[in-house]
Amino acid sequence: MNPLYERVIDDLIVNSYAIADGFLEEAVLQGLRNQLLLKIAAEDLNRAGVGNKTNLVKNQQIRTDKIQWIAADSTEPSEEIFNRQIKDFCDYLNRTCYAGIRDAEFHYACFEKGAFYKRHIDRFRNDNARKFSMVTYLNDTWEEHDGGHLMIYKDQADIAVSPIWGRTVIFKSDVLEHEVMVAQKDRLSVTGWLRG
Ligand code: OGA
Ligand code: MN
Repeated sequence: MNPLYERVIDDLIVNSYAIADGFLEEAVLQGLRNQLLLKIAAEDLNRAGVGNKTNLVKNQQIRTDKIQWIAADSTEPSEEIFNRQIKDFCDYLNRTCYAGIRDAEFHYACFEKGAFYKRHIDRFRNDNARKFSMVTYLNDTWEEHDGGHLMIYKDQADIAVSPIWGRTVIFKSDVLEHEVMVAQKDRLSVTGWLRG
């Protein structure tokens, strides 16, 4: 029994989302942040797309973050530990909830100052593989006035989540509408999907 995983599952069932600060260990967070900073310095991130295929102009009105995928067979130590922990979590969901998750895909993301991602859901119209979305924030200092909130739109109330260090947000990819608000400085994360 993993108490943190159990709490996340309970929250997913009740609210369709869960916030799990400390889902990843400090050393992994540091390692992933360092990898992302290296990629930013090497200009190794690309403008993210929307849906399966669309044009750049349309993209830029919807989202302006930059991303780089994490290889599933990476041998970089923090990425390897990260991939293993995601696999462990998927196995747990399958074992305890028959979640039917087959694989995972994750990318680094940088929302540069002024970047955004307009209100959307994560599941593509023509592909329903994405079951759960997961975002872990790698911002070592983040204050309310830095903005960049993840807005989660629920029937009853909208929730504004601050992208603070080590916070992981997990939500059902098919139902939750959400948005990344403009940030006042670079906003770093690892984002991905558990797929069936
Ligand atoms: C996404 C997304 C949320 C966040 O990449 O699809 O909604 O908080 N990210 O970065
Ligand atoms: Mn999204």
